[in-house]
Amino acid sequence: ENADALNVMIAGAPASGKGTQCELIKAKYGLVHISAGDLLRAEIATGTANGKQAKEFMEKGQLVPDEIVVNMVKERLLQEDAQEKGWLLDGYPRSYSQSMALENLGIRPDIFILLDVPDELLVERVVGRRLDPVTGKIYHLKYSPPENEEIASRLTQRFDDTEEKVKLRLQTHYQNIESLVSIYEDVIVHVKGDTTVEDVFGEIDKLLASSLTKKTEMVASS
Ligand code: AP5
Repeated sequence: ENADALNVMIAGAPASGKGTQCELIKAKYGLVHISAGDLLRAEIATGTANGKQAKEFMEKGQLVPDEIVVNMVKERLLQEDAQEKGWLLDGYPRSYSQSMALENLGIRPDIFILLDVPDELLVERVVGRRLDPVTGKIYHLKYSPPENEEIASRLTQRFDDTEEKVKLRLQTHYQNIESLVSIYEDVIVHVKGDTTVEDVFGEIDKLLASSLTKKTEMVASS
């Protein structure tokens, strides 16, 4: 493991801002961003058997079974770039069994960021979310509108971004988050996610910078 590289987990309710903050973290800290949801959507887009099966669960707002998710993430995480530059795990682990799969490999984060956003904001964020299929950038019609007409005309919406489905996703989130909180108790930090994108990142940036200093000092003194 590389002492100059951070290993970070980020969790939070659907639309709490994980993907948005990960773009900023990646740009500043050079970590390899691994999003379980993005990996699953890539499987769906290429039409694999795993993708087809995963979509059935995602449409119900439920967790995709471990048989599909655990190896998919593990393979990405163990690639050289992630080990070398440090990793940023987004939306994984999401259950006790997933975190145990990592513990069994000796994989722990330096810091576990939990974004706190009140439920009533989440629906509005989900319904207004749009994605740019060309750049992968996340937009919001009201909070982060597209820069120009060309981008605006090509934006897409996720199949699970409806009010009805976000409520199911939220239930799944609350059923699972407590077990993670106890497993990562020693490295967990709560970040208020209901301020502006920049203010949320300001908080996260401070936390990551101090976590990195601590890690480098610890390695240097050992
Ligand atoms: P996943 O893709 O991970 O979805 P999610 O957890 O529901 O989270 P989102 O991607 O919806 O939101 P986000 O927190 O990234 O928010 P964003 O930054 O986009 O998972 C999808 C499905 O895949 C799951 O339901 C499950 O079925 C399956 N799955 C995934 N991981 C799995 C696992 N480990 N095991 C099993 N199954 C798994 O922001 C949202 C919107 O708000 C955007 O429009 C953005 O512009 C806006 N916004 C962001 N921040 C702010 C801010 N500060 N102020 C105003 N607007 C903001």
